[in-house]
Amino acid sequence: MGQTLPFPKQRPPDYIKLESEPVFDASRHLALEAPETIIKLSELGYSEAEIKDCPSDYGVSSAFRILSDEGVAAMREICLKMYDNRNVSVGTGVNRLGSYVRGAGYRSQFIKDFCDSPELSEHLSRLAEVSLARHSVPAVACGVNYAPEDVTKAVDTWHTDSVAFDIVMLMSDPSALEGGEFQYFRGTKSEGQALLGIAGEEGRDTDLPSDRVVTVPFPGPGYGFMQQGNMIFHRACRLKYKAERITMIPSFVVSPAEAVDGTNSINMAGWDDPGLPAELTRHEAWRAAARLDKLVDNVSLHDDATQLGDQIDHAIGSLIAFRDRLRNS
Ligand SMILES: [Fe+2]
Repeated sequence: MGQTLPFPKQRPPDYIKLESEPVFDASRHLALEAPETIIKLSELGYSEAEIKDCPSDYGVSSAFRILSDEGVAAMREICLKMYDNRNVSVGTGVNRLGSYVRGAGYRSQFIKDFCDSPELSEHLSRLAEVSLARHSVPAVACGVNYAPEDVTKAVDTWHTDSVAFDIVMLMSDPSALEGGEFQYFRGTKSEGQALLGIAGEEGRDTDLPSDRVVTVPFPGPGYGFMQQGNMIFHRACRLKYKAERITMIPSFVVSPAEAVDGTNSINMAGWDDPGLPAELTRHEAWRAAARLDKLVDNVSLHDDATQLGDQIDHAIGSLIAFRDRLRNS
């Protein structure tokens, strides 16, 4: 199993820890199956150079079974219990997400143990062909999205994610939903963004050409798909009628800690979740420390000043950029 950071010892005071919940047991609560299809980044039009900058060529899969019926029942009840303690929508995220819980692992040991389970990360690592572990930033390690109170609003508009790998797992019964489909753009993110006239990760609630859009079918609750979310342009459509639509979005980091890291801490620094700047600081410090260790091992007496400077930039550049983002926020 890949490495990750333990949760911080503290917990944001607004996050209420659930008192009575079942104990997660992989043998009872998981029912992992393989997806029928996996679309590679190359099939979406990404160039060899773009793929080389990613941890793997994995793009997006069809939905596959993740939780057993018992797992679905337990997880859905926990998601419903956390609804009244969801995050206050005032940050940048409010523009996109209607109603959500970030850092569910602070509130629920069951969810934390699910996201930490080696069975899950080993399964996902095999699919992604790269070693994955529960994301080291608790806010995004285990998020839960709910349908917005106002059904005229999209559940989530066209965007890319601030993390490399995540799964989108439906906790509600898809046969009871009209609308609320999950869709991705069959193309690169820059093509999709150009068609909508947006940049970066910001969302936009408009339509893309339908022949370029794929709707991911969910056979039932407890099914989810995995995507390299920072490379897949995707959205969750609005519901036609008010209904329970809960998705769980666990995110993952790539191991070892010095591996390419798609986590966009600069973007996430603008979100308004308690503790998040500190969580991101831990993450960036952890990855930089691993890269510095590599630098100590790999530095050559034959390297010139430019080469040495480049290696130092590679090791700590993203940590320094994040520090600057914090200071300017
Ligand atoms: Fe997303």
